[in-house]
Amino acid sequence: MMQKKMGVGYAYVGELEKKYVNMALDAGRLSQGEFVYKFEKKFAELHQQKYGVACNSGTSALHIALEALKEKYSWPERAEVLVPAITFIATSNACLYAGLQPVFVDVDPITYNMNPNLIESKITSKTVAIMPVHTFGQPCEMDAIVNISKKYNLKIVEDCAEAHFAKYKNKSVGSFSEIASFSTYVAHTITTGVGGIIVTDDTQLAEISRSLIAHGRACTCEQCIASNPNAVCKLRMKTKIDKRFMMVRLGYSYRIGELEGALGIAQLENHEYIMKTRKKNADYMTKALQQCQKFLQLPSFPNYVDHSFMMYPIVVKESANFSRNDLVCFLEEHNIESRPMLPLLNQPIYRELFGDLEDDFPVAKWINQQGFYIGCHHGLVVEDLDFVVSVIKDFIQSHNVVI
Ligand SMILES: Cc1ncc(COP(=O)(O)O)c(C=O)c1O
Repeated sequence: MMQKKMGVGYAYVGELEKKYVNMALDAGRLSQGEFVYKFEKKFAELHQQKYGVACNSGTSALHIALEALKEKYSWPERAEVLVPAITFIATSNACLYAGLQPVFVDVDPITYNMNPNLIESKITSKTVAIMPVHTFGQPCEMDAIVNISKKYNLKIVEDCAEAHFAKYKNKSVGSFSEIASFSTYVAHTITTGVGGIIVTDDTQLAEISRSLIAHGRACTCEQCIASNPNAVCKLRMKTKIDKRFMMVRLGYSYRIGELEGALGIAQLENHEYIMKTRKKNADYMTKALQQCQKFLQLPSFPNYVDHSFMMYPIVVKESANFSRNDLVCFLEEHNIESRPMLPLLNQPIYRELFGDLEDDFPVAKWINQQGFYIGCHHGLVVEDLDFVVSVIKDFIQSHNVVI
């Protein structure tokens, strides 16, 4: 029998998702409405924030979060934002879209997150913000980052694309910054197909964001989203031009519709099961791979973080007598999907834009050469995990190593 494909991500579409999507289709309103509104509210609440602003991608959510801060605090063009040297390229691209300059900070060799000890040396008179990325679901060292941000009067913008529901010392990711963003693209912990969401406690930032995602319109009242499409908003009619069509800033078209909202609500109703299963799967693999630790660096994290395990990262140690690429090819041959561990500085477009930076970021360079990740999602059962573990062990043993 053909071995089932072990994908890195998993988009579960169950009866609830189908029910809500059908309800949205039957309601005859595909643009933003009740489902989007409820999704925003619930997602924000689950991350200890007041407002949620749903966007059509994690990248657009990041872009808008930065533009909203730029407007609120009058940041100048090309102000600097500190970003980790290992992350998905959308993090630093969003800075460029917002007219800001990403400045890279090397990462920690164990957590793969921005190394707080290296942040201060990167701060200049142009620095306005730190953008920590909670890579693969592991929260960054937020105490240290918050302290530095206070000392230098910098804003924090968390990129939580990979870390839904993760916590640092019982506080939700996304609640350490004035504004934060998430992605709900298919491979992510909960998904709306494509999508992203901004969370914030700040009314002004929520309103700027709501305006920016809808062409810069003046109408930012959140009730408007959930309104009865047949009713006329009294507030709107008080002004000379209908506020929905009065554009007050240069905006974008970054909204989602009811189908995504319906998927999001269904996924949120299941989030406890999703999170529990991912954590259980990751823990199972880590225990089962203990004997391989001589050659493979497995995830490890302090007990004060609640890791949400969007992915399961592995770095091949120097002591191994095999290469990362050989191991990854062996996994692929056995239908186990993997991805390189978020290479950034060596991307052709970044070499063109920033030059050859890699040697200045030794940990990121090491991860680029030796790291990869596999899935530990809620679609995998114990038999699948046992299979992955046995393939990894077979590979190591085939290199004449007794483990
Ligand atoms: C850390 C990080 N930031 C931003 C994004 C962008 O999200 P999207 O693909 O929804 O635009 C991703 C996507 O994988 C990501 O991993």
